[in-house]
Amino acid sequence: MKIKKIAVLTSGGDSPGMNTALRAVVRTCAYNKIKCAGVYRGFEGLINNEIKELETRSVRGIINRGGTMLYSARSEAFRSKSGRKKAYENVIKNNIDAIVVIGGDGSFTGGMIFEKEFNIPIVGIPGTIDNDLYGTSHTLGYDTAINTVMEAIDKIRDTAISHDRLFFVEVMGRDAGHIALNSGIAIGAQDILIPESEVGLDDLIVSLRRSKKLGKTSNIVVVAEGDKTGKSVFELSKKVKERFPDYEIKVSVLGHMQRGGSPSCFDRVLGTKMGVIAVESLLAGKSSKMVGIINGKIELTPLMSAIKGTSKINTELIRVSKIMNI
Ligand code: F6P
Repeated sequence: MKIKKIAVLTSGGDSPGMNTALRAVVRTCAYNKIKCAGVYRGFEGLINNEIKELETRSVRGIINRGGTMLYSARSEAFRSKSGRKKAYENVIKNNIDAIVVIGGDGSFTGGMIFEKEFNIPIVGIPGTIDNDLYGTSHTLGYDTAINTVMEAIDKIRDTAISHDRLFFVEVMGRDAGHIALNSGIAIGAQDILIPESEVGLDDLIVSLRRSKKLGKTSNIVVVAEGDKTGKSVFELSKKVKERFPDYEIKVSVLGHMQRGGSPSCFDRVLGTKMGVIAVESLLAGKSSKMVGIINGKIELTPLMSAIKGTSKINTELIRVSKIMNI
């Protein structure tokens, strides 16, 4: 089948660079003289027929903007067969031949089911700050997020030093420690707690004691949202306080500010390349694939592997962090 119109949507948690990729998809369609439709609010918008044609000029001025011009949603309705059927009716109504899904693993799972049920070609662009997809060393938005986190913790460090305080800083990463590990190295964290490697409360206490002995008067511990050392970062800080009653301990949860902001140069280049390849792949008859970057080269990975495989953390960074804390 000759593709004449490609739809693009952003889905799940937004990430800096989604707009950049969207712009690249729209312009690559125009370059190839095919139509492009923007679907608003992810799969929810596909069900509700929130679809608008986009042209080259529709995406001007967004390359540097965080968030997503198309809005995003986590669609409950798309999980049901009846929801997907409604979405398919709108695919037909709008003459859509293929879809580019910009999102994370949940969005790709939905896209894959949809492709299988209705035979509509899908290509995914990994847009998530978590960097938790197999088949790409960097997801779109991850680089911006770690720089945002680094800048925020640098500021926390200033006040931590002034007051001789220990800070637990929670960063995003529901199931993955990439953000915590990389930002933790960049800010010189005393300890980095991530779901992939259990430090445990006792080892953390040993490390903090040693740091006190070495004369450190303040400290930063970076904790990934998905880490299980405590039930929450607040409970963890309480437990540590019991062991260090004289140490003033504060908790800072960075939260959603990590997902916003203007994309970094890296994410803008990555998003642009991914958008171009996503459209070119569909035009070349390739589907059910995720566009990723491996060793600096754009590669396609089956969507199924991207979701099922794990994006391993760089264990060398754990070793490096330990050496830094001598
Ligand atoms: O998947 C990206 C992510 O930012 C996670 O790190 C975080 O746990 C989650 O989204 C938060 O989702 P929501 O914006 O729905 O609260």
